[in-house]
Formats: sequence, C-alpha cells, structure tokens
Amino acid sequence: MDLFLHARDGCRLYARGEGEGDQRAIFIHGFPFDQSMWLPQLASLGDTVMMLAPDLRGLGRSEGPEDSSKYSLEAYARDLADWMDERRWEGAVFVGLSMGGYIAFEFLRLFPARLTGLILMDTHPYPDSEETREGRRHAQLIVKTGGAESIADSLIEKVLGSYTLAFRPEVVTQVRAMMISAPPAGLIGALEAMANRQSSKPLLGDIAVPTLVVVGEEDMITPPDQTMAWAAAIPEAQTVIVPKAGHVVNLEAPEEISRLIRDFLERLSA
Ligand code: MLT
Repeated sequence: MDLFLHARDGCRLYARGEGEGDQRAIFIHGFPFDQSMWLPQLASLGDTVMMLAPDLRGLGRSEGPEDSSKYSLEAYARDLADWMDERRWEGAVFVGLSMGGYIAFEFLRLFPARLTGLILMDTHPYPDSEETREGRRHAQLIVKTGGAESIADSLIEKVLGSYTLAFRPEVVTQVRAMMISAPPAGLIGALEAMANRQSSKPLLGDIAVPTLVVVGEEDMITPPDQTMAWAAAIPEAQTVIVPKAGHVVNLEAPEEISRLIRDFLERLSA
C-alpha cells in the first residue's frame, strides 16, 4: 500500500505499508538506497507483522529540502516518529541497515520508550572518522556534478559481497538501479547527515529492548569482527553472521534475513 505524509516542513514523504498482525515494525533503508530494498521482507512477513518502509526524506519517492544543511539524523528520526503518530503506533520494532541503523540509534536517543525491539544490520554506532568525513565531502562534490550514477559503480563493488557479485546478477542489477535513481539533493543531504552524526556508543549499554545484530560474512564496510566487538556492549544482544553475503545482507540473503526477523518477532510476542 502506498502511504503519504506531509512532514513538519511541508515535504511530502512516502512509505510502503504492508502486512497485518499485533506487532509493528519500521524498516529503515541504507545509503544510497530507498525503501524498495526491503521488498523481499515486505513480501514474506505480511502474515506476521504490520510493516512500514519509508523512503527517507530526499530519497526514493520522498521529497526533501534542496539545502543539504537541513538534513540530519534527527530530522530523519523525527519523520519516523511522525509516521508512527500518523499510523497511531505507540511503539514499533526498528529494523535498520547501515545508515538505517544510525537512524535507529538516533531514534533510540530521542524516543526510547517507543522502541519495542531493535534489529541492526551491517551498521555500527561510531561517528565518522576525519578521513570518512573527507570522503563524504568528496562524494558530495561528485554527485553535485555527475548525479547519482557517478558514485554507483565504485560503491557497488564495496556494498555487495564477492559471492553476490559473482553469482547473483539479479541482485547486482537491482542494487545498481536503486543507486542510480536516487535524487542528487537527497544523496548530498544524507552524506551531510551522516558526516555530522554523533557517537551512539554511549547508548549501547542501556539498550533495554530485545536486540538482534546481523552482519554479512563478506561485509567490507562494517566487517563481522568489528560488529561483534560493539554488539558485545549491548546487554543480551543476539548476533548472527550471515554466510555468502556482504553489506546489503537483506537482499543478498533474503530468505535467511526474513527467517531471522520472523523468529525474532515470534520470541518477542511469546
Ligand atoms: C550505508 O549502507 O547506509 C552506508 O554504507 C553507510 C555509510 O556510508 O556510513
């Protein structure tokens, strides 16, 4: 189902809504993607949970400001709270991949009582290093002159695992198509928001909701050993390393990820 919401600043935001059940989950996409990355999960979990997969402001079908200084993780997180209000959802499980995980942490900082569970995929709680921040400034310049396509080819090799690059051509095609269709202003804004984010490390020890941390075995951006190190700071987090998958684990191993989410939700309602 196509859903629309007018944000506080007038931007028209889009989300896909699917499924039914007593539980609610919000799926937050990574960079430079959009809500369509969650289609395998939206298609297979509809009998279990009510799901909302928003396009973050400026990306996919959601409008966003032209001015990159107006983008922040806080703005993304407040949009999610507005979506919840509009849907009359008091609480929800947050499922975030990479940048989506950064936003889930930000939501946790702002609205801890509204989280009923957390599924973090291929993400981490640290702020950008100076070097990463420099890389984002460079990417902003490239996108400004060359559009989304100008970063797609170098990124695709990094975000997908070697198994997917060799044996799953349909996933490579889907991810590339998603990347090149991203609106430049939204990409530049997302890079700005990520560059300015604070550390979420201090939050980890206080996470009081059931948490699942998932990472692709071949993820080069947030590798499994680093993931296991920060996840150990979350009380009683379950951790899973998914074989033959890279950074976009939910598309590279869709059935495994849907099964993990289903099991997590079942444990939550038991
Ligand atoms: C993502 O997949 O969302 C990005 O890798 C996040 C980042 O650039 O830090």
